[in-house]
Amino acid sequence: MTDQEIIEKTIDFVKQELQTAEGGHDWWHIERVRKIALTIAKTEPSNLLIVELGSLLHDIADSKFNNGNETIGVEKASTFLRSLSVNESVVEHIGRIIANISFKGGNVKPDFCSTELAVVQDADRLDAIGAIGIARAFNYGGYIGRELYNPTIAPMVGMTKAQYKSSSAPTINHFYEKLLLLKDRMNTATGRKMAEQRHQFMELYLNQFFKEWDGAE
Ligand code: ADP
Ligand code: NI
Repeated sequence: MTDQEIIEKTIDFVKQELQTAEGGHDWWHIERVRKIALTIAKTEPSNLLIVELGSLLHDIADSKFNNGNETIGVEKASTFLRSLSVNESVVEHIGRIIANISFKGGNVKPDFCSTELAVVQDADRLDAIGAIGIARAFNYGGYIGRELYNPTIAPMVGMTKAQYKSSSAPTINHFYEKLLLLKDRMNTATGRKMAEQRHQFMELYLNQFFKEWDGAE
């Protein structure tokens, strides 16, 4: 099978698997991450098949939507890629990307590093910030029944993975707990550059949000 055929079959598989996904983690998130990753890869010498497959499969079965199961994503992706007879070293690399891409509160040490992981992780982080990031955060917050904002619940920066996962804080807190931290955690120079404008837009948005919250003229 050619690389192109592998990618086309993977696209069909991902679209199928994510048919009922929440709006912030649906096929369109995957498609945006793939495009951003390919843009970043232009300046980061990397294996493009791995960048593209990693982007396509990175959220194939997120533990958030699978009762906290943290291995199901890697298992699903590996089983699928093996069914296409994809080279075992590629299958394993994709598994490591899926296992290490998530933020999890920001205090979990990765057990793997590669240029391809760096590129896909930057792309995923870029889609978490800016105008789209704002839309995704509120969609996810609504999906799991969070308040928009609650001035009596302060954000908690630097949570452990367990605290981060069990948090039920309002969506605005997520900006302080994760989204505003991402620009300083980009792996690549291109990713860092692309994060700037998106970051500024979130700050503008939050200023306006609090003005309106306080009933300012
Ligand atoms: P993680 O935070 O474990 O890396 P994801 O990368 O899948 O998980 O999160 C993707 C997106 O889902 C976030 O950027 C955000 O848009 C949304 N999201 C996740 N957790 C929250 C939350 N507590 N409040 C609002 N949005 C959230
Ligand atoms: Ni993602």
